[in-house]
Amino acid sequence: MAKNFDSMEDSNCSSNTSIHDISDPSRRTVLWGSAAVAIGSLLAGCGLPGAVGVGPRLGFKGIPTGLGDKLVVPDGYVAKAIAAWGEPIGVPGNMPAFKFDASNSAAEQAVQMGMHHDGVEYFPLAGSSSHGLIAINHEYTDDGLLHVGGFNNMNAEKVRKSQNAHGLAVYEVERTGDDWQMVRPSRYARRFTMDSPFTVQGPAAGHAMMRTVADPAGRTVLGTLNNCASSQTPWGTYLSGEENWMGYFGHGDKIDAHQKRWGARKDGAYRWDKFDPRFDAAINPNEPNRFGWVVEVDPMDPTSTPIKRTALGRAAHEGAWVGVTKDGRAVVYSGEDARFEYIYRFVSRDKIAPGGAKANRELLDHGTLSVARFDADGRGQWLPLVHGRGPLSAANGFADQGEVLIKARQASDLLKATKMDRPEWLAIDKATGWIYCTLTNNSQRGDNNRPGVDAANPRVNNTMGQIIRWKEDGDFDGAGFQWNHLVLAGDPANERAEAKGNIKGDIYGCPDGIGFDKRGVLWIQTDAAASQMYKGEFKNIGNNQMLACDPASGETRRFLTAPTNCEVTGVTFTPDGRTMFISIQHPGETPSERSDPTDPDKYSNWPDYQPNGRPRSATVVIRKKDGGLIGT
Ligand code: FEO
Ligand code: CA
Ligand code: CA
Repeated sequence: MAKNFDSMEDSNCSSNTSIHDISDPSRRTVLWGSAAVAIGSLLAGCGLPGAVGVGPRLGFKGIPTGLGDKLVVPDGYVAKAIAAWGEPIGVPGNMPAFKFDASNSAAEQAVQMGMHHDGVEYFPLAGSSSHGLIAINHEYTDDGLLHVGGFNNMNAEKVRKSQNAHGLAVYEVERTGDDWQMVRPSRYARRFTMDSPFTVQGPAAGHAMMRTVADPAGRTVLGTLNNCASSQTPWGTYLSGEENWMGYFGHGDKIDAHQKRWGARKDGAYRWDKFDPRFDAAINPNEPNRFGWVVEVDPMDPTSTPIKRTALGRAAHEGAWVGVTKDGRAVVYSGEDARFEYIYRFVSRDKIAPGGAKANRELLDHGTLSVARFDADGRGQWLPLVHGRGPLSAANGFADQGEVLIKARQASDLLKATKMDRPEWLAIDKATGWIYCTLTNNSQRGDNNRPGVDAANPRVNNTMGQIIRWKEDGDFDGAGFQWNHLVLAGDPANERAEAKGNIKGDIYGCPDGIGFDKRGVLWIQTDAAASQMYKGEFKNIGNNQMLACDPASGETRRFLTAPTNCEVTGVTFTPDGRTMFISIQHPGETPSERSDPTDPDKYSNWPDYQPNGRPRSATVVIRKKDGGLIGT
């Protein structure tokens, strides 16, 4: 999450306060107390039906909290950084080396790894656990590190370089013995930047609100923005969420109600709007409507055009994750990481077809999108976002289904969905059918004129975050669900009740990335902000980290501590479960401004430790020295 977009996490001023909202601060303690009781009883009764994993799932010795500019894994494990920002991805005949003084050109950046690695997925070649493709998101840029001279004197070339450091990458990897390396050149190597065409599909394709002067048909968008979490579909493609895209646009002084609901700002956070008119929304007011979608990529076909999936709704999408109904339909869960925003579910009309990506090119274009309401009794409901149903009418500003999808936030406001504490990653436990979602934090929960606590978001000034989980009634397409919390994160040593949490095991704050391995272990990654780490309620928590959790018992054990001021994100495995890939994002990010690589007190030089270099996001490959399963 880019610190530059902090204000963008906060644009839900709609009046659909939860039935649990309270405006009287004197009652908050009471409600918190009763919520805690209710949650305690839910947890006590949460023996998850059908949980698998006999005997101890966590076989490693947990490690202490981390401090210092290093990455630490348990005894018996090894970790190696590969594919750092600026490494050539392996386009044949075009592999410019990374220059530690950041003097690579914008054109060179377009064939190098982008900045700020996030969601990451391993796609085996021919089923191999030693040879495959990595698809990865490059969420945003730290322009202090990206350019010679940093963010000062921005110009068109610097903007082009920033645009080329965003997007996605696909690169090839191979293991020889225990050593993983990038394979270069590779016929699969690709970068998707702000020049790459994406086909728009689904009900909003071609909609009047999607048309621009450059694309009068409204069916082709150049680029994808602020891509955060990732997943793999059962048909072999990569899903990526466009998260804080709104921060790239400058709107000037005229911001209408629609734009305001999406957090529109006067000036773009990256100054792209000053050098590329496409990002000046005063000139191109529909261009922002073309971002905020889930994008689908077929990494196996280097000639394929990626797709923006409008049927899944427009949001500050963290990512999207697919479950499958018993009769073979795709169910896509997503959330949007912003304060007081929502969790969504899409159920496809059609069944997944055999034949991979090409056979399912229209699968995610037809179906029903719904938004979640979490009730106080541990039950929940999916509220369909269907034009013409309930308040989603022309009279309320929705001309058709395309407009419902483009304005999914406004539609969800009218349906009185539950305003969540910044939904980040989701993960589906295939063995039990429970769906997990990290709610990373919400420092404004309970502030004056902001929503108060509810059962699902039970803490005011929620600095620590929680993980919620639910199970659909019957099948993944059930109209309702049961829910509870896996955990409220925190440190029991904290004075404030709302920052203590109820973790069983090693402490952490701000859960963000999560993912299941095949043994049913839930891997939890953290993203406490540089501005809050190492002090106050976070003083005992140290660097951001990754932990392993047995979801049946709740036992949590620290597996990895990361370099200074980075976040840990993205988790994927080879099919044999013996190699794990994660992302280390923004090592050394400064608490308040873009980084200055010439600062002698800079926070990080990971992973190269070059005295005159600069910290670089990277993929980290983790193996067990004896070749065993990760986590045992
Ligand atoms: Fe990109 Fe919500 O983290
Ligand atoms: Ca985050
Ligand atoms: Ca995240």
